[in-house]
Amino acid sequence: MGNDKKSNRREFLGNLAALGSVLGFSPFAINRMLGSETLKNESDGASLLTTKATMVSTWNHGVIANEAGFKALKKGGSALDMIEEAARIVEADADGLSVGIGGLPDRDGVVTLDACCMDHKGRAGSVGCIEDIMHPLSVARKVMEETPHVMLVGEGAKMFAIDQGFIPTNLLTEKALNAWQKWKEKNEYNPVINRENHDTIGILALDNEGRLSGGCTTSGVSYKMHGRVGDSPIIGAGLFVDGNVGAATATGLGEAVMRTVGSFLVVELMRGGLHPQAACEQAVKRIIDSMDVSNLQVGYLALDKQGRHGAHAVHEGFNYALTTETSDKLIFASNG
Ligand code: GLY
Repeated sequence: MGNDKKSNRREFLGNLAALGSVLGFSPFAINRMLGSETLKNESDGASLLTTKATMVSTWNHGVIANEAGFKALKKGGSALDMIEEAARIVEADADGLSVGIGGLPDRDGVVTLDACCMDHKGRAGSVGCIEDIMHPLSVARKVMEETPHVMLVGEGAKMFAIDQGFIPTNLLTEKALNAWQKWKEKNEYNPVINRENHDTIGILALDNEGRLSGGCTTSGVSYKMHGRVGDSPIIGAGLFVDGNVGAATATGLGEAVMRTVGSFLVVELMRGGLHPQAACEQAVKRIIDSMDVSNLQVGYLALDKQGRHGAHAVHEGFNYALTTETSDKLIFASNG
């Protein structure tokens, strides 16, 4: 009997939502009319009803990223617009040594960037090892929206970007050049745990219409071999979004993330019913159980369809910014 009542209620809400849709109301407006109950539109991964907008982004630069993302939201942007605007502000910061302009170069002194994005419909775009283009995540979005492909790399990615109107720019700043020249004196490849305090930015956003999107942008491990591509542009490794479940992103040593297909794993664990926090913990455990982690850091950040988030890292020191309509926090993730 109780179940009958529930299903009648669901049917009533569904009919009302459908009517609202026919009458031209946005999902946001429909949600306002129906109150807090949530109806899922499983077909395109977007909730028919409103969730509160939430954004999480890795490291300290997550704060300015989220600020830019919420500005995009207020201008009417989608979760994907929030991601792109958030990425652009960090990519354009020449003082940051790990994203966009100013990123530390590879061992040959060349700055190469990796980025990707993914939306609630499971559409994805990515660029790997792109040179001379300051906004690789925007190029990744163009790959997603303007081509039949998911990933472009190297010279092909750069040519595509130029074709799309991106202006080639020298990304090697004096600060990064000096750091590379100093590194060359010893010439040791020796990643330092939590150098990533300004490492890869992974960004996840849920907008007021329940759409989830994610993005990832980085210059990758500093002084890497020329041509090395990390986890950040690899869908499933540095980023994964399932609009009906949740989104996850990774930061830290990409090789460890790729070997465990980390972000996909986090989302699949959420699909199995885990809270984003527990899912991140399990994915970190997978790394700890499968390789020597004494000299590597990986941090996962996740946001589910309900707006719940979680984060966990191999070692201490990983932080992330959490922003909602009403609060702004920089939080240290748990570890181990
Ligand atoms: N997570 C960034 C990289 O390994 O390239």
